[in-house]
Amino acid sequence: MDRITLPSLDGPPGDRLEIVSAWDASTPYQAWRPQILVPSTFRPATAPRVYAVVNQKGGAGKTTSAVELAAAWAAEGYRVRVIDADHQEAALSVWLVPQYPDEGPRHSLRSVFFDECTLAEATYPTRFEGIDIVPSGVDLQRVEYERPIGAEQAIAAALAAEAEAGTSVHDVTVIDGAPSLGLVTVAALAASDEVLVPVKVGGLDMKGMQSLHRTIRTVQQKVNPKLRVGAVILTAWDKSDFARQLAVQVSTDYPEAIIVPIRRSIRASEAPLAEAPVRSYAPRSTAAGDYGQAAGIILPGRAAA
Ligand SMILES: Nc1ncnc2c1ncn2[C@@H]1O[C@H](COP(=O)(O)OP(=O)(O)O)[C@@H](O)[C@H]1O
Ligand SMILES: [Mg+2]
Repeated sequence: MDRITLPSLDGPPGDRLEIVSAWDASTPYQAWRPQILVPSTFRPATAPRVYAVVNQKGGAGKTTSAVELAAAWAAEGYRVRVIDADHQEAALSVWLVPQYPDEGPRHSLRSVFFDECTLAEATYPTRFEGIDIVPSGVDLQRVEYERPIGAEQAIAAALAAEAEAGTSVHDVTVIDGAPSLGLVTVAALAASDEVLVPVKVGGLDMKGMQSLHRTIRTVQQKVNPKLRVGAVILTAWDKSDFARQLAVQVSTDYPEAIIVPIRRSIRASEAPLAEAPVRSYAPRSTAAGDYGQAAGIILPGRAAA
């Protein structure tokens, strides 16, 4: 199989998002531009690193964010594994088609929860250089109602087993969450160093944001004290007073996180059909550029570190 190399982006610097350490509330609306908020307390991470992309609202931009951050890190030379933790749509597995061998069993994340295989055995290459995938299908929902023993820790344990055996080959793991705060989502949070929260600017549900906030804080207190909120990603961003209010709200809820807008782009909605990341399908689009900038702040390339 020839794997497609994900491009570096050398876009015009004028199109890059400005980086600030505080919002300037006095900027008049007309002069207002999308900015990345990087709090002065923020420290970029180093590999290896595990990220959970979580928001219980469907359509928040989880799968898009998981794919584009993975693509940006793969373009930097990191070996990235994406894990599809959404049984409802399995959109990630349809977008980044796993390349199964001609023979032998086809494992998935469900097989890992039920101890039928290791995480490595459930990991398949994609068509893209540097990105491997642990796929899922609808049968992942069996985890929610059969609740296999140790499910909450299943992903964490599988990663730890790899690390212990010295067999882990991935620098970055990105878990694409389901639109629920069920057992699989808790398992994703329990296994992660950081949670990344995509929020769609057009479709806010303040109640939903509060229960997500509570879930993250509870997991931090009871299951995974090292978990931190790395970024809030404002997806399909466009200029509106609402977008500004939302940005201020999330920066209050998650003062430790960077807040990054990803501008609304038709290319982002076309890419899944093309079965390619936006970075490969439309490298000059704002979505590719904005995600590239976000990825570089969250986990800088080795050359920059
Ligand atoms: N920056 C963007 N601009 C325009 N559309 C976007 C953008 N990001 C995501 N979308 C679209 O929003 C929809 C929901 O995104 P998706 O990543 O599938 O969300 P989730 O995984 O949270 O359900 C998809 O149709 C996707 O193409
Ligand atoms: Mg999704």
